[in-house]
Amino acid sequence: SKKLTITAIKKRKGEKPLVMITAYDALFAKLLEPSADMILVGDSLNMSFAGRSDTISATLEQMIYHTNAVCKGAPESFVICDMPFGTYTCKEDALRNAIKVFQKTPADCVKIEGGKDKAGIIKHLTDNGIAVCGHIGLLPQSVRSEGGYKVKGKTADEREQLLKDAKAVEEAGAFCMVIEGTKAEVAKEVAQSVTIPVIGIGAGAEVDGQVLVFSDMLGFFEEFTPKFVKKYLDGATLVKKALQEYADEVQNRQFPTEEHIY
Ligand code: KIV
Ligand code: NA
Repeated sequence: SKKLTITAIKKRKGEKPLVMITAYDALFAKLLEPSADMILVGDSLNMSFAGRSDTISATLEQMIYHTNAVCKGAPESFVICDMPFGTYTCKEDALRNAIKVFQKTPADCVKIEGGKDKAGIIKHLTDNGIAVCGHIGLLPQSVRSEGGYKVKGKTADEREQLLKDAKAVEEAGAFCMVIEGTKAEVAKEVAQSVTIPVIGIGAGAEVDGQVLVFSDMLGFFEEFTPKFVKKYLDGATLVKKALQEYADEVQNRQFPTEEHIY
């Protein structure tokens, strides 16, 4: 198997940036498997896949269903399953729910949002054989309590907090972490302050890798493009054009033709 091990992922720090992309189904997981070092089954699927306005209402059952689909499509990829909101509020719940993920899917690790405040939970998981990817900076699961999505690292206090969070996540045994929505110079400092890879999203270039939501980077999400997203494909336009061509051909009886007929 070409699947990266935790050891290999850690070794990439300082060597070669890690490529992480989200996927929610087998079809896209298979398409992105050759390009990604790690596939994230993010709870962003609640927005990108399920059409909700935030990640809060994603359930563990949903995450397990999509993780199995992704693992089927990309059997040689290192797969991360996001623990959804409310499934790791205490050590016991976190371990019980992470075990459920490990028993019901072939996921390689789980990801949980939070820094110093979640260190005890991360340690409890890693002590019990569950690999953990941390997630610091802007935390989408806290969007309601925070009153919106706010870029982190803008003040000296926030910078200090981020450095503490990263250190705590590392010391708790996480093998890598995501840093989201953070001023680039602070994210850079955070990445330099720990020995595990720090994967950025909206956190600048001076980190140990990048993650993007596949439907954002492929241009399928039309409503709005966040500043940190680069569209590598105009997916929505291409798909809609193809679909209109099909619709026109059906209506004009141009499809099917001889070659598609039994
Ligand atoms: O759910 C997700 O897609 C994520 C990434 C934005 C890091 O957590
Ligand atoms: Na997420």
